[in-house]
Amino acid sequence: MSTDDASAPSDTHAGASRVPAHIAIIMDGNGRWAKARGLPRAAGHERGVEALRRTVEAAGEIGVRYLTVYSFSTENWRRPAAEVNALFGLLRTFIKKDLGRLKKEGVKINVIGRREGLPDDIAMLVEKAERETASNSDFVLNIAFNYGGREEIARAARALSADVASGAVLPSDVTEEVLASYLDTADMPDPDLLVRTSGEYRLSNFLLWQAAYSELVFFDVLWPDFDRAWLEKAVAIYSDRERRFGAVSTGDA
Ligand code: FPP
Repeated sequence: MSTDDASAPSDTHAGASRVPAHIAIIMDGNGRWAKARGLPRAAGHERGVEALRRTVEAAGEIGVRYLTVYSFSTENWRRPAAEVNALFGLLRTFIKKDLGRLKKEGVKINVIGRREGLPDDIAMLVEKAERETASNSDFVLNIAFNYGGREEIARAARALSADVASGAVLPSDVTEEVLASYLDTADMPDPDLLVRTSGEYRLSNFLLWQAAYSELVFFDVLWPDFDRAWLEKAVAIYSDRERRFGAVSTGDA
């Protein structure tokens, strides 16, 4: 495998186990968690933020460098307005309450997805969070908000086409690496491990380009119940998998 292969492994070895450099999570099951308790769906999302806080902390402690979480998809606009507003409210509160602490802890915050269409105050909060944590490098938290994988690829293709039209990029220079540099995740390694909770087995338009070689792990646990033990279990499963990136097993060559 060449060293410039975008799918080259980026994980690290910690003792006998391999720690993924980048974990992506589809935080699913908040609604069912709330329903099972006779609570409004928004209460499930609120508890979901607590699970997110636990997960960021645990991921940093076990040596993960990038965590990308699916918080609001481009398809989530189809939900009732009250639920959409509740999710917006949770992002506002999360940034207002957690920014100071995350900044001190060396966390760099990025919000990936489509900025257009977000309420102005949220767009401003997001810019503030990104600006104030821009020089942090210990841990990157990517919050996918108003995010859709196809939308991201189409937006990247639009920006790249504009550069081709202006002559800044030659059509013959358009490679996978060049297109990837127009994505919201430019300069980040692809996720080594993608986890989805709540017993659903789909990508749901999450990181379609970046997850090409990710190891996929599905758990039945509902997101509000996710904790460090589940994260460690996902890492242990990942560690036992053999990643071949399209090649053959060592020893079979
Ligand atoms: C899927 O569960 C979850 C979401 C659509 C939202 C996830 C959001 C959070 C965990 C909190 C937001 C965090 C920030 C920082 C804004 P679902 O509602 O589809 O659950 P269901 O499938 O059981 O109905």
